[in-house]
Amino acid sequence: MASFDLTGKTALVTGASRGLGQTFSRALAQAGADLVVTSRTLASLDAFCAEIRAMGRRITPVVLDVRDHASIRACSEAAGHFDILVNNAGCNVRKPAVDITWDDYNLVLETNLRGTFFMAQEAARRMIPRGYGRIINIGSVTSVFGYAGLGPYCASRGGVKQLTMSLADDWGPHGITVNCLAPGWFRTEQNKVMYEDAEWVEYLKERIPLKRPGQMPDLEGAIVFLASDASAYVTGQTLLVDGGITTGAMRAMVAKK
Ligand SMILES: NC(=O)c1ccc[n+]([C@@H]2O[C@H](COP(=O)([O-])OP(=O)(O)OC[C@H]3O[C@@H](n4cnc5c(N)ncnc54)[C@H](OP(=O)(O)O)[C@@H]3O)[C@@H](O)[C@H]2O)c1
Repeated sequence: MASFDLTGKTALVTGASRGLGQTFSRALAQAGADLVVTSRTLASLDAFCAEIRAMGRRITPVVLDVRDHASIRACSEAAGHFDILVNNAGCNVRKPAVDITWDDYNLVLETNLRGTFFMAQEAARRMIPRGYGRIINIGSVTSVFGYAGLGPYCASRGGVKQLTMSLADDWGPHGITVNCLAPGWFRTEQNKVMYEDAEWVEYLKERIPLKRPGQMPDLEGAIVFLASDASAYVTGQTLLVDGGITTGAMRAMVAKK
């Protein structure tokens, strides 16, 4: 099990002010990593930094807006040395496709896809000289299937999956692995409005082969695996942590008719 140990490694996790970003950060710290965590607002990282320091890990909060190239470069500079990048910062706009505005589309694609690429580029520039790195792009079940009302989001997440394969091919010779961790449904700020609809929650459970939405601990093993030497020979892959919803989608659709 020594290959899962992250002692001596530093992980930069984007979008760690709440939600999945904190889950990923906490799991990496529990596995031994020191952290660099980001938000657009430093104050929103205060309580989390205190929690991680109480675990005996080093943690450095850094401001980052992934829609701003200068901010990406400044964040990388401020972070200094890091071995692991978790490209988690992201957003969503839920609207019928006919109502999506130019600005809605740009917001989602610039944050989720362009931001992911340029953060990965900054990381690789630092990792290539050392011949080692782990880049984990956060995708979604919408990396592999569509969903009405989430057009730009699905396009961005499909793009993250494709980007992951391309960058894995690019940087593999430098000892850098690039993988995509694709969560299913996990209740956070981003989707809490959907969980207020009890009927929808029941429908969701019915469609998931494991019969429940994800719980935060469900993501911990996958992130530590992809961040550690346990996944040394795994690159360009998308690991779905989704209770099987993507494998069960067709069965559930047919069953519903
Ligand atoms: N929840 C799910 O079920 C689920 C499933 C699959 C994939 N995902 C993806 O997983 C990631 C985290 O999701 P979540 O549910 O935890 O979302 P969340 O609670 O809304 O958190 C999003 C995080 O992204 C950061 N962020 C947003 N826009 C940013 C920007 N322009 N620059 C830098 N940081 C930005 C936010 O930081 P600040 O606002 O503090 O700057 C926040 O920390 C997202 O990429 C999401 O699409 C979520």
